[in-house]
Amino acid sequence: MRDTGTAVSKIPLSRPYLDEREEELVLDVLRSGRLSLGPAIDRFEELFAERVGAPYAAAVSSGTAGLHLLCHIAGVADGDEVITSPIAFVATANCFIFEGGRPVFADVDPQTLNLEPAAVEAAVTERTKGIVVVDMFGYPCELDELRAIAERHGLWLIDDSCEALGAEYKGSPVGSHGVSGAFGFYPNKQLTTGEGGMVTTPSEEEWELLKSLRNQGRSYDSRWFHHVRLGFNYRITDLQAALGIAQLEKLDRMLSMRGDVAARYGELLADVEEVEAPLADDAEHRRSWFVYVVKLASGIDRDAVLERLGAQGIEAGLYVPAVHLQPYMRERYGFAEGLCPIAEDACSRTLALPFFPQLTAEDQQRVVGALKDALA
Ligand SMILES: Cc1ncc(COP(=O)(O)O)c(C=O)c1O
Repeated sequence: MRDTGTAVSKIPLSRPYLDEREEELVLDVLRSGRLSLGPAIDRFEELFAERVGAPYAAAVSSGTAGLHLLCHIAGVADGDEVITSPIAFVATANCFIFEGGRPVFADVDPQTLNLEPAAVEAAVTERTKGIVVVDMFGYPCELDELRAIAERHGLWLIDDSCEALGAEYKGSPVGSHGVSGAFGFYPNKQLTTGEGGMVTTPSEEEWELLKSLRNQGRSYDSRWFHHVRLGFNYRITDLQAALGIAQLEKLDRMLSMRGDVAARYGELLADVEEVEAPLADDAEHRRSWFVYVVKLASGIDRDAVLERLGAQGIEAGLYVPAVHLQPYMRERYGFAEGLCPIAEDACSRTLALPFFPQLTAEDQQRVVGALKDALA
């Protein structure tokens, strides 16, 4: 006999928020015939720079590409040590490994899960050349303290803000603090272009360089086959830029919807003892809600929880594993457990719940109900 039971609808981990405006602007570009190096890119850059309060912005093919260009410009050389966070995405370290840099992981603050400035300072050696800081899970890092360390030791500093569009540090947006950084636009991000990224910089000279490097090292005169430096193809398309413009127009609404979803999770989880909610904002840090990552109490079998949620049609994620313990990191550098104990403990207990602007209160109740069952 056929099973006639009602199928449970699936609740995905993330979902982009798109409407007719994206369709309209992408269609305009399609009809214009200018699919790359066209006016939509310039417009997207202008609007983005304005939104985050950065003097200059250069659109690129991904957040990774943006971070790589910044490390390339910083002048990483073989064997240079670069300090970064173990609670990040692999691209955060890969961007300087591509250039010959060697990753040095400093531990994080157990509350913010961002780099602990004292740990960064302790990791500086005479081979250290730079620091890649991260605004993880949309929570701004201790930028002023980290920048002071960089200045004290003559190091360059890059802000990986791929997860933090809309976040504010000391009252102004991430991107406006006079440090070069990159944002990412993968479909789970606060703003998506499918794939894509944006580099923001306080320097006009760096901005010109970024535009040349993303476009095969071309000069910015009108000669197409005129390459003045070794460059990359890290161009974004006008189709993606059109998507980005439509997304920017409603960014504030999407961020506020994300904030509402986070607040509802906070209420629903308040009485669940085994679950620690993400850190709340304070006077200096305003999170831009990117993901909803909770910490499970020590000793809970997280894999079993994940499996039970999956059986209920709820997609949760082991977000994120510690970067230094990834197989290629262990193999290349011999990193092992014990290097960053605070990060390792956090990464072994974190769990990302379904999170996107249009997630309904009913679905959130289902998620939390299933989580309570899974923990019982
Ligand atoms: C912290 C962090 N850095 C870098 C990246 C890389 O961005 P992209 O996927 O656009 O290359 C991401 C995106 O997932 C990220 O979360």
